[in-house]
Amino acid sequence: MQDILPADYRYWDLVIETSRDMATRFGFERVEVPIIEFTDLFERGVGTASDFFVQKEMYTILEDDDTSITLRPEYTAGVVRAYIENGLMNETQPVKLYSIGPIFRRERPQAGRYRQHTQFNCEILGETDPAADVEVMMVAMNMCRELGFRGLSFQLNSTGCRQCKPLYVEKLRAFLDQHRDELAEIDRERMRRNPLRVLDSKEPGMDRLLADAPHIADHLCDDCADHFVELRGLLDALDVPYAINFRLVRGIDYYVKTVFEVWAQGIGAQAALFGGGRYDGLAEAIGGPPTPGVGFGCGLDRVILAMKEQGIEATPAVRPDVMVTHFGGGTKVEAVRLAMELRDAGIVTWVAFARGKRSMKSQMREAHNRGVRYALILGEDELTNHVVAVRPMDGGEQVTIAQENLVSWLHTKQ
Ligand code: HAM
Repeated sequence: MQDILPADYRYWDLVIETSRDMATRFGFERVEVPIIEFTDLFERGVGTASDFFVQKEMYTILEDDDTSITLRPEYTAGVVRAYIENGLMNETQPVKLYSIGPIFRRERPQAGRYRQHTQFNCEILGETDPAADVEVMMVAMNMCRELGFRGLSFQLNSTGCRQCKPLYVEKLRAFLDQHRDELAEIDRERMRRNPLRVLDSKEPGMDRLLADAPHIADHLCDDCADHFVELRGLLDALDVPYAINFRLVRGIDYYVKTVFEVWAQGIGAQAALFGGGRYDGLAEAIGGPPTPGVGFGCGLDRVILAMKEQGIEATPAVRPDVMVTHFGGGTKVEAVRLAMELRDAGIVTWVAFARGKRSMKSQMREAHNRGVRYALILGEDELTNHVVAVRPMDGGEQVTIAQENLVSWLHTKQ
């Protein structure tokens, strides 16, 4: 888990603003669900064969009355629950929802992998058309383009459905069985639990071994094959570059048909900035009516790491426009009052804090260190004459302005 300090918030503000802007342009509306849900939702939603359960990644708390609750390890299950419980299926379908918030996974920490990370999550609920899959992918693509990323890799696969996936898994298991002796212990264990996960094995020699493995694309049922063909046709029509990767399997059980990820180089082993796909059976699995869905989650922490890696600048920090300095007598009260007037007029204002009298030199040094454009000087003379001395911090000439004209004078300088 990490602290986010002001210097990093420039990046956070930019990526959050870009996420919201992109989601809004595509017609998504914001929804937020609680950070804690009943554990049962995730058991039925993401599935007990998913990494969250197998690798014991969830932060689960047993309450006094034996109710088991869990810090959300992802958004999708909670968003689909909210869709069902709040009757969003009665609105015009599909419904497009986005969220931005913290996600918790007890993973082994490493570069780009945190136990609390922030996701920008998008879901389209109530639609089977591959054009919906393309839309969520385009939100991801456009966001990368808008932020100025170069050389990202768009990975795409179809994982089939409840009809064709099991047949493929058997073919894959048979293939892996023939090569059992060449598999590392961890992959033999994966093969026992979920052979698909052997496909994304990083063990040495697996690239060569898997080169001959059966491809899911050759084993899709007609419905999944048609969906994949249409999806690719749409991406081609939009001139979107992508790589078909038959080894792209995701760590959550609910995916059917489309899965995709966006990878960035140079941010360590955890290269996926976006990951998502279609999950048509999820709503039923958690007790709702059949509702197709497709979406993605984007790790904003990783997006920021990748921005820094590529030398992409965030918006400059907001520097105060002015700092009001004051020197004894009743000037402090006037300085505090004046600062409020300037802020009401939209001017970013600091006021010098001081118990008792504080030297001119010390206040000017602070104004300089804070990078303000103007120091406003209020001494007893200025107070009596209802004026302010304005000193440009870039070395320009000091001028005296009537207090009543100060706001309009400063506005002409912005
Ligand atoms: P996910 O691939 O597990 O998918 O996570 C989505 C994204 O969250 C990843 O691509 C990555 O950028 C980020 N992420 C995941 N774990 C961490 C971590 N420990 N530290 C930093 N970033 C992380 C899901 O969560 C699905 N619910 C996405 C989805 C939405 N599928 C359909 N709709």
